Amino acid sequence: MDWAVNAGKILKEGLGKEHQIHHKGVTDLVTEMDKLSEDYLLGEIRSCFPEHSIITEESGYLDGDDGVCWYIDPLDGTMNYAHGIPFFCVSLAFVQHDQVQLGVVYDPIRDECFSAEKGKGAFLNGQSIRVSDAASLIKSLLATSFTSSEGDLKQAALRDYVHLTGLTQGVRRMGSAALDLVYVAAGRLDGYWSNYLHAWDVAAGALIAAEAGTRVTDRLGSPDFLQPVCSVLAANPLLHPILLEELNCNGR
Ligand code: IPD
Ligand code: CA
Ligand code: CA
Repeated sequence: MDWAVNAGKILKEGLGKEHQIHHKGVTDLVTEMDKLSEDYLLGEIRSCFPEHSIITEESGYLDGDDGVCWYIDPLDGTMNYAHGIPFFCVSLAFVQHDQVQLGVVYDPIRDECFSAEKGKGAFLNGQSIRVSDAASLIKSLLATSFTSSEGDLKQAALRDYVHLTGLTQGVRRMGSAALDLVYVAAGRLDGYWSNYLHAWDVAAGALIAAEAGTRVTDRLGSPDFLQPVCSVLAANPLLHPILLEELNCNGR
């Protein structure tokens, strides 16, 4: 937990300053702060668990023991961060034999630390959190995420976005998949979906959401949402089947 919090503090310190921005794609940015946060987390994990594998957004797969792996997103919400928008987090998960065992998502701006250990519930700054009980689309506030560089996938994402905006209290697109997921866990949002994510975006947030009572699947309803490319549908159990139907109904 401390590792995510310390990495978050590094990010908070740098927010609003001038950044060295590199382009991984035309609209896919990375800053020197992504790297600083990642270097810190890698250093801590490597010194405590030198034998563990690590999958981290900026450095890729770092080989280690099969079956024990850390998933790191050192800065989820880089686009927000690069524009000085205070909505981003650090996401850290520990995965054993493809099962997420531990997840921490830390928002340094609000000093909100969301955490979960498999089978032990979900917490926000140590207080138990629970998913909402909104049972209809019109009583629900949703979030989705997609980027500007997803080609055909974006067309589908835009269709879904328009469709569900018309049926609900609204669909937010806030720019941090990990925070979207933990906001569902905390009952702030009633549901979240995305068609295109990476395992480091979702591993921690999905465990926290599931431990708070959220039903978490891929976009087609399969529980195997960590497989690349990840799609995710996370919603309270009353809303999940309704969203699944809306997102996959034919004829749109
Ligand atoms: C991105 C954010 C965004 C989502 C993108 C992710 P990054 O992560 O989570 O909400 O739409 O697909 O890549 O690049 O800021 O770590
Ligand atoms: Ca991310
Ligand atoms: Ca990132």
